[in-house]
Amino acid sequence: MARITAGLATSHIPAVGAAIDLGKTAEPYWVPTFAGYEWTKKWASAEGKPDDVILVYNDHASAFDMKCIPTFALGCAEQFAPADEGWGPRPVPVVKGHPDLAWHLAQCLILEEFDMTVINEMDVDHGLTVPLSLVYGQPEEWPVRVVPLAVNVVVYPPPSGNRCWALGEAIKRAVESFPEDLNVQIWGTGGMSHQLQGTRAGLINADWDNDFLDGLIGESDRLRHIPHIEYLRETGSEGIEMVMWLIMRGALGRRTRMLHRHYHVAASNTAVGHIVLEPET
Ligand code: DHB
Ligand code: FE
Repeated sequence: MARITAGLATSHIPAVGAAIDLGKTAEPYWVPTFAGYEWTKKWASAEGKPDDVILVYNDHASAFDMKCIPTFALGCAEQFAPADEGWGPRPVPVVKGHPDLAWHLAQCLILEEFDMTVINEMDVDHGLTVPLSLVYGQPEEWPVRVVPLAVNVVVYPPPSGNRCWALGEAIKRAVESFPEDLNVQIWGTGGMSHQLQGTRAGLINADWDNDFLDGLIGESDRLRHIPHIEYLRETGSEGIEMVMWLIMRGALGRRTRMLHRHYHVAASNTAVGHIVLEPET
């Protein structure tokens, strides 16, 4: 049987990807950002190495636009190319999928009444590739297969935190009914507090962000009830990306244990947050 062995969440700031691609990670501005991923990189190359990652992220008008806005879309293809976001595709490997696992997830989730969109062709943008770079560096090939789960958090209305948490719970059941013996991780990306435009551009709420990180650890499920308006008011217009972390948290079961945690302001205009969790039975 397949099992979810860990959950990881991280911001997916495009400038962080560019710093990696352009060899700038040792520059003083970037050192505190990347220092918080050193523990994770070591762990990910040893006991924290899964077969597959279910990678929850949002597309930023790269694969989808106003013509088509799936709330939850599962990438079922053999592979996913890095998207061209205006400066050419990032110089990172093609992302290898896992169609058997992805279709199994689609079947289980849809029969559990989550109306997933099945995607058989999709380029993946910084939302998905920056987290891979943060954890795996600059390899020739990514060391894991990835099932992309794209969530709409760009166009109103995004799914509620409660719905995201419940989807995570259903993903846990779906993974555990996959017959192969697989070590699966689930990652949530985006956040933490950020607003990229308007008069509140650059808004950071470190107290709120750290309270959100606290809420992912242990047994409480208080985070699932945070309304959209609170993300918007407290964490800026793009802070709503954090509902994707709740899919990851929901998939870890009743109780979690923290393995690692990192928070840094500022890289770009955005608070960098990162956490690694284990399900605790
Ligand atoms: C930034 C952060 C994001 O999550 C994103 O999708 C785009 C930009 C930023 O901080 O610059
Ligand atoms: Fe984003």
